[in-house]
Amino acid sequence: MRLLGIETSCDETAAAIVKYHRGRFSVLSNVVYSQVAKHSKTGGVVPEVAAREHAVKIVPVLDRAMRLANVTQHTIDALAVTAGPGLMTTLSVGVEAARVLAALWKKPLLPINHIEAHSISPLIMNEPVRFPAMSLVVSGGHSELHLVRSPTSIRCVGRTLDDAAGEAFDKVAKLLHLGYPGGPAVAKSAGKGNRFAYKLPRPMLMTRNHDLSFAGLKTAVMYRVMKRKVSIPNMAASFQQAVVDVLVKKTVDAARAFRVRSVFLSGGVAANRELRRQLAHTISEMTNCSFHVPAFEYCTDNAAMIAARATFLFGKRKRWPWQRVKADANWEVW
Ligand code: KG4
Ligand code: ZN
Repeated sequence: MRLLGIETSCDETAAAIVKYHRGRFSVLSNVVYSQVAKHSKTGGVVPEVAAREHAVKIVPVLDRAMRLANVTQHTIDALAVTAGPGLMTTLSVGVEAARVLAALWKKPLLPINHIEAHSISPLIMNEPVRFPAMSLVVSGGHSELHLVRSPTSIRCVGRTLDDAAGEAFDKVAKLLHLGYPGGPAVAKSAGKGNRFAYKLPRPMLMTRNHDLSFAGLKTAVMYRVMKRKVSIPNMAASFQQAVVDVLVKKTVDAARAFRVRSVFLSGGVAANRELRRQLAHTISEMTNCSFHVPAFEYCTDNAAMIAARATFLFGKRKRWPWQRVKADANWEVW
């Protein structure tokens, strides 16, 4: 089957055509227009500005995705759109575009949870995967641990109590005047620094549950920066290592607790090379457990993961009427 995926939950306007045949994914096109340059002036996303930009770009992005994949409305089986969580103003642009297309083309339309789509995004790589899996989703808005029993059964077993991992990267980047978006900037600076230079806390490391927290770490960086002059690369490296330590330990603990056979890593922060490397290394030392992470283009926001999630859900219901699809800014994973 061939699906058209649409994503506008934050600051990326994205459309993708994904083919799923005999258990294998082929991404026929994956178009992402990023608004990062627009938001770098304000140091963050202004919802109205983002929505206006999505409205300008959604048609050209959809058109490009269809052309690159060489498909027409007649060769598409269904549409899928991010319905939440995200910014209401931006979600609405994608959802309304999808509803119009589904109504005119008379095709099924599946509402997709953005975080669940991140969670199963490693499956796009077509690697052999055994279930259950523990999936660490780390993005700008969410940091969650999901128990994935199958591609259609996802349960949240832990989440951040305050800031998301990506949010912490973005805030620390601001403190260190490294610019926006913070994740890649901190990672780049960290590459030139010493990760043992500053002693920073590892929040929630010893708790028995699978929840996470990053606000304390960010505050510790803030106090240290305010107190005395710091070496920016050394602080970036020390902060990054503290985040990686917490994420690796929490993921491994959850993987052991639920006796999973695979570990997934996804979301924008999964683009961080140190996190990928250190988590992969730790999992490789566990017996009977494999590690899966998507290619970089499927870590940050994209529509291929939205279509991929929909391929699994499609058979769960007889009908997917566009009338039922509405934006839901607070749609959480339970
Ligand atoms: O998944 P995503 O594209 O959007 C959301 O759903 O939030 O994630 C964006 C987040 C941002 O906070 C960004 O700073 C972070 O992912 N990020 C990184 C890296 N690349 C992006 N964080 C750490 N290291 C990176 N290389
Ligand atoms: Zn995301």
